[in-house]
Amino acid sequence: MAMVDLILQKRAGKAHAKEEIDFIIKGLMDGSIEDYQLAAWLMAVCWQGMTLDETAWLTDAMARSGDLLDLSAIGPIVGDKHSTGGVGDKTTLVFVPMLSAAGIPMAKLSGRGLGHTGGTIDKLEAIPGFRCDLTIEQFIKQVKEIGQAIGGQTKELAPADGKIYALRDVTGTVESIPLIAASVMSKKIASGANLIVLDVKCGSGAIMETEERAAQLAATMVEVGKRLKRPVSAVVTDMEQPLGNAVGHTLEVMEAIETLSGRGPSDLKELCLSLGSLALVTAGLTEDDACARRTLTEVLANGQALSKFRDLVAAQGGDPSVIERPEIMPQSKFKIDVKAPGTGDKWIKNLNGRLIAEACKLMGAGREKKGDPINMAVGIVLKGKIGSRIEGGQPVATIHADSEKDAVVAASKFNQAILYSDTPQAVPKVIRARIGA
Ligand code: URA
Repeated sequence: MAMVDLILQKRAGKAHAKEEIDFIIKGLMDGSIEDYQLAAWLMAVCWQGMTLDETAWLTDAMARSGDLLDLSAIGPIVGDKHSTGGVGDKTTLVFVPMLSAAGIPMAKLSGRGLGHTGGTIDKLEAIPGFRCDLTIEQFIKQVKEIGQAIGGQTKELAPADGKIYALRDVTGTVESIPLIAASVMSKKIASGANLIVLDVKCGSGAIMETEERAAQLAATMVEVGKRLKRPVSAVVTDMEQPLGNAVGHTLEVMEAIETLSGRGPSDLKELCLSLGSLALVTAGLTEDDACARRTLTEVLANGQALSKFRDLVAAQGGDPSVIERPEIMPQSKFKIDVKAPGTGDKWIKNLNGRLIAEACKLMGAGREKKGDPINMAVGIVLKGKIGSRIEGGQPVATIHADSEKDAVVAASKFNQAILYSDTPQAVPKVIRARIGA
């Protein structure tokens, strides 16, 4: 078999056999296939696509390129959740303790933020002492003991994805549904959980800009899960605007604690309940969606979910008093309000998530490249979302910055992200579709 023939085959729109896909991933891992050949093949996949069989074989080969975690010692059901990335997405911080409180052991491996989307690990590290660098043994032991753990993704899990992703990033081949599906699912399969829920975002702040493409991606991942014997369900969710009101590490942890306390913004709560009920129904722990929602609403209202979060923070070296004293997390030095222009009633028409993330990045909240330091304290808190009524001259957001200059620059960027209307605007639905269970 020669790589050049496989490139020609894919360029001509023909499907590969399983052995051919295994050959590509093996060659990538042992160095016998050059990066430029792989890049050419990735571009051919981008143009010609892949069948579901090919996508499942690619996922499987990528998952088997490194360690495959065996979580069977934890119990018959082990849950995991994945989001394709968005702005203000602190769902994992609520979802993991909430599901654990509802009886599903949660073994979640998360990543750091890169580009305009934030990473769960970075957010959790705003809590003094919190550590995600658990060994696999510590990770499994913790899930067995307290029903949950959030660890950092290691290089040993699906290393083929790391290599392919680095190439896709610089060759214009990120936006391919089979390549994204194989990238996400290979890491999920290698992570070992057998109850997987996926949150596929769509909109201006997401990798999939349209609902149609997000639904296609979700359906592809659900099918791949089926073929590889891991039940997967997915929701397609709105990322036209940030999730919740807070964007920035400390601010997002505070909002997650609010939500775990039964309060919190309605869109974040709705997303957590939808994903959570999908997991409970798929696991067969509750009869139907309504029953699952009742269970989850109860663990949020009666303090069990919050108590699970306290256990999680304490088990991973963090200071659990953060729940009563969020001010122990890094705090910004300056706060300024951005006000709606003019006078009289206005409605928010648009809140571009990507531009809001860029405003936060300008203040130091994001990184350009791996390993860059980030500022935990800075960010933006919205006082309204799309459809909210705001009076001209009243605050529409608060900028948390470390210098007055940064605050002014971020405020100006924020003003590019927001559009107003003189007429009432519909509130967008956070859940666009459910696929799978
Ligand atoms: N997230 C991933 O893990 N991989 C992709 O290709 C895109 C988003």
